[in-house]
Amino acid sequence: DWNSGNVIAEQVAKIQAQVGSGRVICGLSGGVDSAVAAALVHRAVGDQLVCIFVDHGLLRKDEREQVEQDYVASTGVRLVTVDAREQFLNALAGVSDPEQKRKIIGREFIRTFEQAEAALVAEAEADGEPIRFLVQGTLYPDVVESGGGTGTANIKSHHNVGGLPEDLQFELVEPLRTLFKDEVRAIGRELGLPEVIVGRQPFPGPGLGIRIVGEVTADRLQILRDADAIAREELTRAGLDGEIWQCPVVLLADVRSVGVQGDGRTYGHPIVLRPVSSEDAMTADWTRLPYDVLSKISNRITNEVREVNRVVLDVTSKPPGTIEWE
Ligand code: XMP
Repeated sequence: DWNSGNVIAEQVAKIQAQVGSGRVICGLSGGVDSAVAAALVHRAVGDQLVCIFVDHGLLRKDEREQVEQDYVASTGVRLVTVDAREQFLNALAGVSDPEQKRKIIGREFIRTFEQAEAALVAEAEADGEPIRFLVQGTLYPDVVESGGGTGTANIKSHHNVGGLPEDLQFELVEPLRTLFKDEVRAIGRELGLPEVIVGRQPFPGPGLGIRIVGEVTADRLQILRDADAIAREELTRAGLDGEIWQCPVVLLADVRSVGVQGDGRTYGHPIVLRPVSSEDAMTADWTRLPYDVLSKISNRITNEVREVNRVVLDVTSKPPGTIEWE
């Protein structure tokens, strides 16, 4: 029967056999799959592995720190972070169309990643130890979906900004290819990864960029990041993480409504809560959250996030709604 300790030992041996003394590179997205894949490879070949993490400025609160500090502390992985926040904001300036935003974010991500990759490749070559392998967090359902075979780097390309361009100069290392998501989480826990990463709900590659309806700006990102952090904190505190597939928090940046606070009139933005229950994100239903939890989230967001004066609940199933608003 299934045992995470055995799977780890098996995969470590397999990675060692594949990689030998070669150098390995891995992109971390902040999500579960890449984090566990990299941790396994690190367990197998230690500092032959180097990871790249792109901070595109569309991350949720504390996500960068959780990768740079907690993840690195628990694994010992060598990590290069690229701070690309300015670059992404500049590229997104003036753009409101959802598809345009996705395209821009995807393009900038690949560009940024490839630059970091090229620098590491050059450094390794100067050392006389070229990088020959690339880690991918491909899961079993991804393999099935793509009809099996190798080189699955691109299967979810429209969905995987956190994923990588297919890069033929590297041989792929895919230690999660036989595993399901819950098994990957079990292995992550066994490897001692932080719960904030192992237990993380699905989060789209384009991040908060597609949860701001309207143009993406630094101020709007800050508002959304604060509101999102409050919603997540209260859902976790209420013990609801297991019941919810994910809960996008959306800022309607181009909408304003009148409100009242203290003895003054406000004219602020609405925040939408989109809690959904689902098996696979193909279909979903809105989660019937307890009223007291909704009330707590609403009170806290309107009190603590100055620019928000209204919190609304999305009660649409998928279909016809999608999970994300963009
Ligand atoms: P929708 O909005 O299509 O979302 O119902 C279905 C699932 O996919 C996630 N999603 C994405 N994930 N890059 C990703 O990595 C994307 O561009 C993207 N768009 C949507 C969404 O969060 C949900 O889990």
